[in-house]
Amino acid sequence: MSLPILRLGAVKEVSRFRQHLLSLGAEIPCDSEIVDGAASPLQQPLSRRGVNLANRIAVHPMEGWDATPDGNISDSMLRRWRRLGSSGAKLIWGGEAAAVSHGARANPNQLLVAPHTRKGLEELRKALIEEHRQRTGSDDGLLIGLQLTHSGRYCRPNDPKKPEPRILYRHPILDRRLALDAYYPLLTDDEIGAIIEDFHNAARVAHQVGFDFVDIKHCHGYLGHEFLSAHTREGKYGGSFENRTRFLREVVAGIRAEAPGLQIGVRVSVFDTIPFVADSSRFPGGKLGPGVPEMLSGQIPYRWGFGVNPNAPNEPDLAEATCFLSLLERLEIQLVNVTAGSPYYNPHIQRPALYPPSDGYQPPEDPLVGVARQMNATRKLKQKFPHLIFVGTAYSYLQDFLPHVAQAAVREGWVDMIGLGRMALSYPELLWDASMGNPIQHKRICRTFSDCTTAPRKGLPSGCYPLDSYYKGSTMAAQLKDAKLKG
Ligand SMILES: Cc1cc2nc3c(=O)[nH]c(=O)nc-3n(C[C@H](O)[C@H](O)[C@H](O)COP(=O)(O)O)c2cc1C
Ligand code: SF4
Repeated sequence: MSLPILRLGAVKEVSRFRQHLLSLGAEIPCDSEIVDGAASPLQQPLSRRGVNLANRIAVHPMEGWDATPDGNISDSMLRRWRRLGSSGAKLIWGGEAAAVSHGARANPNQLLVAPHTRKGLEELRKALIEEHRQRTGSDDGLLIGLQLTHSGRYCRPNDPKKPEPRILYRHPILDRRLALDAYYPLLTDDEIGAIIEDFHNAARVAHQVGFDFVDIKHCHGYLGHEFLSAHTREGKYGGSFENRTRFLREVVAGIRAEAPGLQIGVRVSVFDTIPFVADSSRFPGGKLGPGVPEMLSGQIPYRWGFGVNPNAPNEPDLAEATCFLSLLERLEIQLVNVTAGSPYYNPHIQRPALYPPSDGYQPPEDPLVGVARQMNATRKLKQKFPHLIFVGTAYSYLQDFLPHVAQAAVREGWVDMIGLGRMALSYPELLWDASMGNPIQHKRICRTFSDCTTAPRKGLPSGCYPLDSYYKGSTMAAQLKDAKLKG
């Protein structure tokens, strides 16, 4: 019988939190006291092969669904980037997913990287740096990237209600969820070649704008990630590991040729599971049930995942992630952002939360187990590749204890940089405050309500509706409430 989920918002003492970790068997390091100033592990600089970072705080890319229809920036986006700058983080991993072409967009309001958006991208970068200087006093040791993406299976470039999937292979579960029949066209090798060129062009724009690096996104079920699991695809982009990573190698080769000096990073889902679904039988009446794996008969060995054990596909298997990181080393890519799974089919793996988004399910496990899963995968990979710079993910669920865990994880060498995702929407400067000895503003701590995911699912811009004053009481908040009531 599993323990009931402990609501961390009600836990005041770090000792109680540590006791809960022990009873769960969740391996998560946690310091009792926060150290601040120069002695803080989070304020230690990191220099490796030309990358200089003045502290250990990073912010993850967080898509906003608020670009103009032609892919340009908006006021709310500018505000978000200022807030990312004010976090005090010295590594800005991509700001947000920016599409390499109109057709690559995950929603009709996704930021686009193209010659006509260059000026806007410059504004975003400058606004971020300005705020960053105000917060930290200097932009020394600050590294800013742009996350380049093609949304693949999750393209919706023209209408938020109309999926326009671009797929590499037939997936027995995800195809059905998207109502794709056996004749739905697969991307051809020539079309893939054109997409690779889009990445080269986008990287050239990012370089001209002054970004220090681009992330070639390989996570969360989008196209880069789908290449890694294209075991069943025929031809030069599918089957063997060599073929499934050809896309990455060709993107990298072109970027090196066309944007010399631009650094490259990769955000990768290092493990996965088969898709989960809400178990409606346990909550009849339309309420979301707890998540259960959607297994169909005849699917073992499972051939549609990256980082899964084919014979037990809900178990992570880091063997291929290890090969992938070896490849990154050979390609002289040292910036790695470790994540897992996908928000579309296993959100509890990807962003552990107490409250599900509207298209999710109740947590099938204590979300701390999900945090521990990602942290331990990162730790194992860090041990194998000590020279790569690792950014860790899935810390927001730790809430008030995030600083204690972050400090311990860096001090004990589990990870190099602590990345903030949702917490960067509600309280971007949490780790800066903690590691500089400033008072912690507990009311701004993300409680994983998932409104930032539900809003875009309902056609609204993302943001922290419950805690960020920009959304509280706004028309958007009223629309979200209404949309949630309608189900
Ligand atoms: C609203 C929202 C938007 C996101 N957008 C992106 C994105 O554009 N690119 C990306 O790689 N991950 C994206 N993520 C995932 C986060 O970067 C992060 O991996 C996830 O939230 C887990 O980290 P956390 O526990 O700190 O929130 C998004 C997450 C949320 C909630
Ligand atoms: S809406 Fe706010 S509190 Fe809820 S998960 Fe998103 S950032 Fe956290």
